[in-house]
Amino acid sequence: MIETFTDLDPLRERVRGWKRDGLRIAFVPTMGNLHAGHFSLVKRARELADRVVASVFVNPTQFGPNEDFARYPRTPQADADGLDAAGCDAMWLPSVETMYPYGVEATVRVQVPGVTSTLEGAHRPGHFDGVATVVSRLFNQVQPDVAVFGRKDYQQLAVVRYMVRDLAFPIEVVGADIVREANGLAMSSRNQYLSAGERAQAAEISRCLAAMAQALRDGQPREAVETQADERLAAAGFVPDYAVVRRPDLTEPAAGETGSMVALIAARLGRTRLIDNLEFTV
Ligand code: PAF
Repeated sequence: MIETFTDLDPLRERVRGWKRDGLRIAFVPTMGNLHAGHFSLVKRARELADRVVASVFVNPTQFGPNEDFARYPRTPQADADGLDAAGCDAMWLPSVETMYPYGVEATVRVQVPGVTSTLEGAHRPGHFDGVATVVSRLFNQVQPDVAVFGRKDYQQLAVVRYMVRDLAFPIEVVGADIVREANGLAMSSRNQYLSAGERAQAAEISRCLAAMAQALRDGQPREAVETQADERLAAAGFVPDYAVVRRPDLTEPAAGETGSMVALIAARLGRTRLIDNLEFTV
């Protein structure tokens, strides 16, 4: 049966006990409202360690002023049930006061340079400062051996890897594959904001990513591929923030460059902002 912790001392005591017994601890950070995508992270974590801790915390510092912090769905009981069924041992459910004892405004902030300046970082100023700030705290609170993050938040994973290396966290970071609906739509808590019609429409994003990868492989120039993707999304009713091809480190590939690439899209459908990506080789 899963144990839920709302205070730090008992959580630390439990993790210390496991470590004393020589057990390896995996950690899955989440903002709750869990779905099959999150449960696949827990299952991956189970493969990597003896005990799994998942956090459920809607982090105020990573939402912009006009974003959905207030309406972000909070479903702790359903989350606990789902985590239990997925094989999670402990749920870490801190309050905002526990996470930010000096208050959100007076907190120590972690800022990752470079990789945060483009794409999501450019469209959501301050977002990755909030992510790095909360993930560094979560790592200190849980003290896992390994942490599992979804590859759907591709740039977030890059930010976390940078931070872990630079701040020398003794934690292995593992990226887990994107889980998709039958129509190709990447699973996300934000999908529930979509109407049935929008859900069907939203699958266009993954089709567009596949078309971008194919066009690159067919030798089309990157800029043209990006423009076509932008136009295709707009024609399908989206307001795209970006549709781009990047190297795995998110820098821009040179003309004609081959090797590992990632296509990334962020686009709004109605009031909902969706992101997705596809890793491929040219
Ligand atoms: O990916 C998320 O759900 C969040 O950004 C994370 C990593 C839990 C930090 O709040």
